[in-house]
Amino acid sequence: MLAGKRILLIIGGGIAAFKVPELIRLLRSAGAAVTPVLTRAGAEFVTPLTIGALAGEAVHGALFDLTQEVDIGHIQLSRAADLVVVAPATADLMAKMAAGLADDLASTLLLATDKRVLIAPAMNVRMWQHAATQRNLAVLCGDGIGCVGPNDGDMACGEYGPGRMAEPAEIMAAIRAQLTDGPLKGRRVLVTSGPTHEPIDPVRYIANRSSGAQGTAIARALADLGADVVFVTGPATVPPPAGVQVVRVETAAQMLDAVMAALPVEAAVMAAAVADWRVANAGASKIKKVAGRLPVLEFTENADILATLSQMTTGRPRLVVGFAAETDDVIAHATAKRARKGCDWIVANDVRPETGIMGGAENAVTLITADGTEVWPRMAKEAVAVRLAARVAAHLSGAVRPDSAAASGGSISGKMKP
Ligand code: CTP
Repeated sequence: MLAGKRILLIIGGGIAAFKVPELIRLLRSAGAAVTPVLTRAGAEFVTPLTIGALAGEAVHGALFDLTQEVDIGHIQLSRAADLVVVAPATADLMAKMAAGLADDLASTLLLATDKRVLIAPAMNVRMWQHAATQRNLAVLCGDGIGCVGPNDGDMACGEYGPGRMAEPAEIMAAIRAQLTDGPLKGRRVLVTSGPTHEPIDPVRYIANRSSGAQGTAIARALADLGADVVFVTGPATVPPPAGVQVVRVETAAQMLDAVMAALPVEAAVMAAAVADWRVANAGASKIKKVAGRLPVLEFTENADILATLSQMTTGRPRLVVGFAAETDDVIAHATAKRARKGCDWIVANDVRPETGIMGGAENAVTLITADGTEVWPRMAKEAVAVRLAARVAAHLSGAVRPDSAAASGGSISGKMKP
């Protein structure tokens, strides 16, 4: 239920605005109050009368309405809500948000608010897929703005593809998720993810096969529990999750800097596949092919980010979780790695190509802590993430861990504690 919650609902100008009356109806029957803001374009699709009647409140539209400035003020309007929802979020509104423009009431409220913002994009498929919109979406995700949809389907313009606004029931679910106080609410957590790229010269680099899927799922699962997630990601092939602060890096050195800049955090989950070495003699310009002469690359070691963080004497996160990607003697190598690096937990996985784990959809991990090893059954990376996030939440809140092995089919050796 959303009793006592107030939603500032910004209605953009798109045909999908026809779904907004139903969204308002659902919000009100869930107990929420709705403050509607109708953009000028939005008013071309739904009337202020319909919206006002359903919301049971005045509809705001113009920035410089002096009466309203005296009574309410746009700053206060932007702060009085528990959540700001933009539906439909048009390409134009998204561009304004990404650029920080404030040239009408809707964009001004979005810039002035100190509350979480959820957008439900809706537009023509080509507009959605346009590089500019995707760039804006990435910026908005990086700013911690939540996003629901768009869905695939037939569009009012006669085309087919992604661009349809999420259904009112889906938007309701996303609103509920945004407003739920999870066990990690108010806790700042860091997640590293993806591969790193180490340049050989300006056009070539050394990389690894990490897709970033596991780290992305972990960041999403932690955010779903209410954490403020800083997501430091190398060039991954999966998009970053919504609702987290995204910091994009390329090299291990940049990742180290980004991790240090993100501190302090209460917990750090280091899922990135960081390159151990970089090219010491990387070319400042493209290395040219010379017949009969092979280039000789010299390597130097990258700093170990996990070890650096784990061994901090002041400001160390309360919980540091590392990963161990191994191809043989998984448990023995991972246990030694945990001791060597000084992290609290290690999530060990077998990345031999035949397991299909690296770059795949599933993972089979063993959680290693000070008190034992816990073998988790093979499951979707999202499921591993949800389970790990729950363990992080239990640890940070100091709760004694329930007997999760019995409950979830894993096996434990040794005595476990959170
Ligand atoms: N890691 C890191 N910085 C590095 C290398 C690794 O922070 N320069 C972290 C990874 O994010 C992961 C853990 O260390 O959490 C283990 O990574 P892994 O590649 O399995 O181990 P390595 O230290 O690289 O050891 P090896 O390659 O010998 O197995």
